[in-house]
Amino acid sequence: MKTPFLAGSVALLALLAAFSVLWPPILYSLILLGPAILIGLYDVFQEKHTILRNFPFIGHFRYLLESIGPELHQYFVEDGTDGKPIDRNHRAYVYERAKRVQQTHPFGTELDVYRSGYEWMYHSIYPAARMNEAPRVTIGGSACRQPYSASIFNISAMSFGALSSNAVTALNLAAREGQFFHDTGEGGISPYHLQGGDLVYEIGTGYFGCRNPDGSFFLERFKEQAARTQVKMIEIKLSQGAKPGHGGVLPAAKNNQEIADIRGLQPHTIVISPPAHTAFSDARGLLEFIQRLREASEGKPIGFKLCVGNRAEFRAICEEMVTTGIKPDFITVDGAEGGTGAAPIDFSNYVGMPMEEGLICVCDLLCGLDLKKDIRVLVASKIITAFDVFRAICLGADLCNSARGMMLALGCIQALKCHTNRCPSGVATNDPRLRRGLVVKDKWVRVKNYHDAVVDEFLDLVVAAGVSDLAQLGRDRIYKRISSREIKSFGELYPEIEPGSLLPSSS
Ligand SMILES: Cc1cc2nc3c(=O)[nH]c(=O)nc-3n(C[C@H](O)[C@H](O)[C@H](O)COP(=O)(O)O)c2cc1C
Repeated sequence: MKTPFLAGSVALLALLAAFSVLWPPILYSLILLGPAILIGLYDVFQEKHTILRNFPFIGHFRYLLESIGPELHQYFVEDGTDGKPIDRNHRAYVYERAKRVQQTHPFGTELDVYRSGYEWMYHSIYPAARMNEAPRVTIGGSACRQPYSASIFNISAMSFGALSSNAVTALNLAAREGQFFHDTGEGGISPYHLQGGDLVYEIGTGYFGCRNPDGSFFLERFKEQAARTQVKMIEIKLSQGAKPGHGGVLPAAKNNQEIADIRGLQPHTIVISPPAHTAFSDARGLLEFIQRLREASEGKPIGFKLCVGNRAEFRAICEEMVTTGIKPDFITVDGAEGGTGAAPIDFSNYVGMPMEEGLICVCDLLCGLDLKKDIRVLVASKIITAFDVFRAICLGADLCNSARGMMLALGCIQALKCHTNRCPSGVATNDPRLRRGLVVKDKWVRVKNYHDAVVDEFLDLVVAAGVSDLAQLGRDRIYKRISSREIKSFGELYPEIEPGSLLPSSS
């Protein structure tokens, strides 16, 4: 293409020169043609992009189309059940509830109810009376001195840094007005988190907000953070579904004075969060750390979050709880399908147990070792709709968290640019120009509306199920189509375990 481009350019210029003798204004076309030829010449001789070397100038259209490909697909191609990771129907579900617009659907389901994998709940011929109030779940076992009463639907961990200051402020205001909790994510407690909404303070391997200069855990600083009245619970992050077993790097450029102050860092330096905690290295160490945090926080609920990897390792932690009597107040289960601001693709695609199996594994082990009565199970991963909450509770969860659902309520359009700082909706960026598009006073209301609608519609499902107590919801309630001629309940797929049946004395 190099020679044709050069030859074509020379021929075009020669033609122009010839015509200009007859009609001089034609030379104005050089305003467009000139830069195009110069760009093409540059493309021919640069050595970085093969497509541009081979297709000078017109090759740029490929890059342009590629850069707006997701938007083109979303606007012109996508069907209701298309779109990843969150399909269009689910995104519309959130937007409608957040904006309080039309929340009913015409003409019947668009889902193929005969495809393998389709799931549904069974209803009762005798629907129950509606609960008067939205259910709350108390978190805090016998060792906890400040139990917390939680909503069944809350904001999952997302740090300031991953989200913009406006997004964090709006989420916290929504949590305050809607009486649900807001998990800080591992980036520490920022001023934006302090709008009066209940906080879960998350501690990752970087111990942001409670670390020594060498990155190790700093108890005295933790005490100050935990003493804040807004902090209702503390969550030790062992792993998250989108990148289990992977640490993180905060580049020097992002580590500005504000982030450094919030996280307890030296500004403008690279900060590495290692894959593993340095405060403990085994099951006993984790439980002793929980005990230290419990004492240092004056008895606030302490839990940990994980994406299940090796069942045996998780079982060892549970058995250690039985041996030592030290138990967390809650465990948060994240699935491999969970979201993130940025993660290596192999970790997102191939590391960690999906939510369904992870939740079942955690619930069964806790139940079998007779621990479930003391430990609440929280779950996240694509819990967007009221049915998703209902299903998770039937499978064994006590309450649910949502990260991407809440982002959508904030106005996220799933542009898939969280990792570039160019999020067009101002949710996952700290570019002040983009951030200003997210108007806090409008968006917190949307997040609250979404939360309230999900809880409200969950209660409608409970009525249809004919139960008056959430404890009556079990795995038998949800069916799955295995093939065109076979259906099974989750109770058949994953039989419920008798409480205490895995304890050594019960065999
Ligand atoms: C932008 C973003 C940032 C996140 N940051 C954290 C974090 O700091 N700590 C954590 O434990 N999980 C983090 N997560 C994971 C979520 O808390 C959640 O567990 C996961 O996305 C599954 O929920 P979802 O399907 O509702 O998004 C993040 C997720 C997103 C989308």
